[in-house]
Amino acid sequence: MGRIPEHIVEQIRDTARVEEVIGEFVELKRAGSNLKGFSPFNNERTPSFFVSPAKQIWKDFSSGKGGDVVKFLMEHESMSYPEALRWLARKYNISIPEEEPDAEAEQRRRERESLLLALEFARDWFIEQLYHTEEGKSVGLSYFRERGFLEKTLREFDIGYAPEAFDAFYKAAIAKGFKDDVLEGAGLIIRKNNRIVDRFYGRVIFPIHRLGGNVVGFAGRILDTSKHPAKYINSPETEVYHKSKILYGMHKAKSHIAREDNAYLVEGYTDVLAFYQAGIQNTVASAGTSLTEEQVRLIKRFTPNITLVYDGDPAGLRAAIRGVDIILENDMNVRVVVLPEGEDPDSYAHKVSSEALVHYLEAESRDFIEFAAEILLQDQTDPVRIFEMIRHVVESIAKIPNEIKRELYIRRVAQITGIDEQKLFVELHTALRRKIRSMQGRFRQELPAPKMQVAEPQITLTDRIPVLEREIIKILLLYGHEKALFPYYNVTDEIDGELQIDIREVEQAVWQKIHTEITADEVEFASPVFRELYKKLMDIFLNGEKPDLAAMGKELDTESMEILTDIVFENEKYPLSDWTKRRMRNIDPVENLSRYVTQVLYNLRFELLIKSLDDFHHQQFPEPHKPLEPDKAEAVLEEMMQYNKLKRLIGDILHRVV
Ligand code: CTP
Ligand code: MN
Repeated sequence: MGRIPEHIVEQIRDTARVEEVIGEFVELKRAGSNLKGFSPFNNERTPSFFVSPAKQIWKDFSSGKGGDVVKFLMEHESMSYPEALRWLARKYNISIPEEEPDAEAEQRRRERESLLLALEFARDWFIEQLYHTEEGKSVGLSYFRERGFLEKTLREFDIGYAPEAFDAFYKAAIAKGFKDDVLEGAGLIIRKNNRIVDRFYGRVIFPIHRLGGNVVGFAGRILDTSKHPAKYINSPETEVYHKSKILYGMHKAKSHIAREDNAYLVEGYTDVLAFYQAGIQNTVASAGTSLTEEQVRLIKRFTPNITLVYDGDPAGLRAAIRGVDIILENDMNVRVVVLPEGEDPDSYAHKVSSEALVHYLEAESRDFIEFAAEILLQDQTDPVRIFEMIRHVVESIAKIPNEIKRELYIRRVAQITGIDEQKLFVELHTALRRKIRSMQGRFRQELPAPKMQVAEPQITLTDRIPVLEREIIKILLLYGHEKALFPYYNVTDEIDGELQIDIREVEQAVWQKIHTEITADEVEFASPVFRELYKKLMDIFLNGEKPDLAAMGKELDTESMEILTDIVFENEKYPLSDWTKRRMRNIDPVENLSRYVTQVLYNLRFELLIKSLDDFHHQQFPEPHKPLEPDKAEAVLEEMMQYNKLKRLIGDILHRVV
């Protein structure tokens, strides 16, 4: 299928109604100007899912997800972007004239198509062998039966059997008209000194599916492990099978993962089957490879939570701990369940009842970092070893992109281990430095050093800047075009150190006031995501337009869209915004727009100025006790005085006027 022409995309987006589409999946009731229902992403008792027909967006407070109509289909139905558009086109009877795909792409598509057909044939043939041949029944089926797998489970996962004869599959495929090249390209046969043999024979077969359910590869397990050195043989990488991108069981697990808001990650094919059979259907395995970034991101499409299930052997545990970094780097929450000594997920699932298994997983699941801190320190008495272990844990913490989470974890590890918190912060600082250096400074702003350091033991966990920046975005989004009488302050004189301030009032649109004030200080928003949103919104106003969320949704990334939908619906969810909790007076924005905007603006300017002053200070005085070179000193001091004056002015205004 070719690309959908741009003007058709527009037409689809203009025609589709978010409330109609979502109405097909979720029961919605009127709630003021919005519609309301139970979250389709979580089980819940009070409805926290909102749809705005006026703004053509939706928000799910139980999961934080939100966006436009296309985003809903992508999230809820796991569709890709073009799939969602095509689905909408069908629903609204919009026909899509296909653009001519180029010949080369078309050729590649046809090749992939033929590999998939061969793989589908192989899947069916292996299944046929398992249930309908003497060998399959007596060898394959009875093997699974002995291991406690029900036929229902085997059917769900398309399990099959490859007979002992080393070319039985090849013969069957040829008889069906499949060509050697295609069979080889699909990884099903091997050419060996002018002879052709099946890749899989004398093994039970686990088909490997991609997300949409197509089979792209196979794994074959030998029944008698003494007969062959490799317990499993896997399909090679092919045009359609990319191991690093596939998780075993994902095609079955995805909807359960989304619903449970958690994915269990196990090691083996049989582990997935056994958990599924026990009713724990949100289980996947990174079969045949160690966990990759792409696999982690695949899970992240459905949930931010991963629970690793390990067998209890200590060597495996230590190795696994090192493997977790890739999950942490992707800002996912990791929990761990350690199974009783000598058990793996498959054996344990067969040993105890489903209820006992579910209970065990819930009761024994632990936060990963806390777990690592404990397990690594267990039975350690040698201080050098202890130090090394702590470094491992802190290095893992340094992988977490979120600064606040990092700080909370450091505190927690300090509690668990009894090691001085400040020492851990120093370690964290070193680890972050190392990480920054290894990224060649590319992501410098994204990785601020921890605020808490040994030299200055002050805690700035509740950083006001992001709160205020978000509030500005909210004001622009909801009230940007409203007009009000805004104050402007001017210093006329200074008497006995007290600034004489003149107030002038000007009627203008909210966005203009914000634009003027933010531009005045030549400062930028500190948080990258709010900075981008601010620029986008300002561009819209400067072009004489109004922000339209559904239209913005096309260009914005998921995080930005979630922030915007969160803002639009927040009054539905929280009658009083976070604002009140942040020691600021709660002003009803609608009743007193001018005061509300001014207060937020000046608070933000104040915070940003302090930050600029800090940054400037650090730049000029990288080493605390080294004096400045005399010819630079004057300019630096002048600049700092300017900053200080401005800071004083705003502080004064905040104190006296607002
Ligand atoms: N694996 C593999 N090739 C091997 C051995 C293992 O690809 N030669 C992968 C498979 O994905 C396997 C996983 O590693 O499922 C875990 O291996 P293991 O625990 O040895 O196998 P199980 O899946 O537990 O299989 P079984 O219970 O049947 O022994
Ligand atoms: Mn096993």
